[in-house]
Amino acid sequence: MLTAISRYGARVLPDTEALIAACKGRGELIQGPQITEFEHAFEQRAGSGTAITAAYGRIAFYYMLKALDLPSGSEIVFPSLTFWVVPELARAAGLTVVFADVDPQTFNIDPDSVERVLTDRTRVIVPTHLYGLPCDMDRILDIASRHNLIVLEDCAHALGAAYKGRRVGTFGTGALFSFQTLKPLNCYGGGIALVQDPALAAKVRRIVEALPWPSEKRVRDRLLMGRLQRIFIKPWVFSISLFPVLWISALIDANPDVFLWEKIRPLRPLPDQYMERFPNVQAVIGLAALTRLDGWTAQAQANAAYMTRTLGDLPGVQVPRVPAGRTHVYYQYCVYGPDGPQRDELVVRCVRRGIDIETLHVDVPPDMELFQGATAEADGARRATQAIQIPIYAGLTEEQIERVAATVRSVLSNARA
Ligand SMILES: Cc1ncc(COP(=O)(O)O)c(C=O)c1O
Repeated sequence: MLTAISRYGARVLPDTEALIAACKGRGELIQGPQITEFEHAFEQRAGSGTAITAAYGRIAFYYMLKALDLPSGSEIVFPSLTFWVVPELARAAGLTVVFADVDPQTFNIDPDSVERVLTDRTRVIVPTHLYGLPCDMDRILDIASRHNLIVLEDCAHALGAAYKGRRVGTFGTGALFSFQTLKPLNCYGGGIALVQDPALAAKVRRIVEALPWPSEKRVRDRLLMGRLQRIFIKPWVFSISLFPVLWISALIDANPDVFLWEKIRPLRPLPDQYMERFPNVQAVIGLAALTRLDGWTAQAQANAAYMTRTLGDLPGVQVPRVPAGRTHVYYQYCVYGPDGPQRDELVVRCVRRGIDIETLHVDVPPDMELFQGATAEADGARRATQAIQIPIYAGLTEEQIERVAATVRSVLSNARA
């Protein structure tokens, strides 16, 4: 049987179950010493800043905003291509969101557009290192210093990425990182605020330490969900479970992706599960995963390089462009197909041949009803929605990456037909 290849590949420690069992055995599933150890290990890797764990990356960001205590109505600038929850949480924190456009070549916030949307109420810029590629930090920091703005980096996709040799997450006043299942460091959920200013870090920590611990049931359910996800993306299980749904959806033009993602809605009041602490068992997994992070990153980079060698010479195909001085960690690998057939048609052709392709991993918030009326520039973000995301994740075998590359090459070469 021809197995299908999933768009997602979580980074999984081979001894995950043993780590969880040992943690349970010590009675330290929820509270325990590894939370602090993990925070210290994270700080050491980053090179500077104080790390504070949280239930999600998004809520780590929210706590930084709360700790900054900005006047209500202050404006915060996001890229118009990002995960909708992050700007929504800025609104929940009392700020007015404004969207600057992205460069469709790099998928990152365009500094020229940032300059155009600034007003005298702007207080914060959020460079999101989308898909694992660092933003143009020289330009962003220059704008921030000229206009006296706070920079909060969104590093959810970019743990391990560097700009001119310096790790992302250390350029701004603070940064968020995510440990959700598919992210570079998989702790089955959770996140960190990495804060450069010690006084601000102390405030964020006070907010976090006032929160309740999660129930043991909630944490067990989360770990069980992680285990199920690991099972469902194994090629043979995926081929007989989720893949047929995607295959049929591709035929009938349905979009099952909407069931995979969180319902789009106002986040006021904040959902309960956002408002709790990061449990020890997830820190145990994070600590062990940190020791393997560089290996996983190198594998994803090697797979991306192979994909670029395979697709780079095709007429009209645009492979990822990495500006000089930036280290891309390829959380996603995005290409534009030749003009002609629509993106969705290319996706259908890949899916029919057993390669599950994702289209848009994030959102264009200015085009969502939730953000109607927000000041926005978004033409580049709309162009970026035409890219396709090809699986290159670290867990693919050599044979699988070769098969993905050969299939996508064949589909893209025949794209004009
Ligand atoms: C760009 C971006 N920022 C922030 C987040 C939030 O991470 P978390 O799910 O840990 O809250 C995500 C999550 O997918 C994301 O894609």
